[in-house]
Amino acid sequence: MSEKYILEGQGLRKEFGGLVAVADVDIRVRQGELHSIIGPNGAGKTTLFNLLTGNLRPTRGTVRFRDQDITLAPLYRRVHLGIGRSFQVTNIFPNLSVLENVRLAAQARGGDSFKFWWNYQRFKKYNAVALQAIEQAGLHDRAHVPAAILPHGDKRKLELAILLASDAEILLLDEPTAGMATEQVPALIETIRRIQQAGDKTIMLVEHNMNVVMNISDRITVMHQGEVLAEGTPAEITRNETVQKAYLGELYGDFAEIIQGQGGVA
Ligand SMILES: Nc1ncnc2c1ncn2[C@@H]1O[C@H](COP(=O)(O)OP(=O)(O)O)[C@@H](O)[C@H]1O
Ligand SMILES: [Mg+2]
Repeated sequence: MSEKYILEGQGLRKEFGGLVAVADVDIRVRQGELHSIIGPNGAGKTTLFNLLTGNLRPTRGTVRFRDQDITLAPLYRRVHLGIGRSFQVTNIFPNLSVLENVRLAAQARGGDSFKFWWNYQRFKKYNAVALQAIEQAGLHDRAHVPAAILPHGDKRKLELAILLASDAEILLLDEPTAGMATEQVPALIETIRRIQQAGDKTIMLVEHNMNVVMNISDRITVMHQGEVLAEGTPAEITRNETVQKAYLGELYGDFAEIIQGQGGVA
């Protein structure tokens, strides 16, 4: 029991009227790992993220960050604790440059977002933090381009850079490759992997591409109709009979291929 969990959901449940979107889910995310959530549309993945980040209050259950119960903590406090999340629709300022957008995130974290009088030293500090995040996200050659003209794939990298600049310890990425041109997917995945392997970040990922999930994840939680169907390493998940029965052919064509041994397992 010496394993270190950074984020934990216990008995998490969310009902929308009569619909149970998340049904008594237990999930424990180990520090420094890349933990993916998979499952068909409507399985409750996004709702689970919302419960963990505080965008939604659970009907029941608790959320713990390190050793604190944050079930009732407001969103801004979770952000300050270091829980970052990317949305599919983000608050990117289209007319500002990539660097300016990322610098704003760094300033907000530093508590300087509404101060017009902060001195040049602090400006330089935030600028340096922003440039480092941009570099890590693989956007260094786009720093001075207006955010509006970035292609979709680069916008997702900008979201990552914003999360990095805000100094989140755990990043929750909900379908970061959604809507992206296929040829841009590997670069984003490589970026995510690099960020995680660089050391101290924990990443939670919802992703539909099974090849990506199997290759990038340390652990996978499989959700189905609000419940956790299975949890384990990619190898354990591919071998899991319940998962095979629920998924084979029916929900994920490429998952079936992986199970049959044609796909790569990390
Ligand atoms: N705000 C909401 N109000 C009512 N129903 C919702 C709401 N958000 C999600 N749901 C429902 O909860 C279920 C789980 O949705 P979601 O968490 O978005 O699944 P996933 O991300 O796995 O596709 C779905 O049936 C969805 O229609
Ligand atoms: Mg979703």
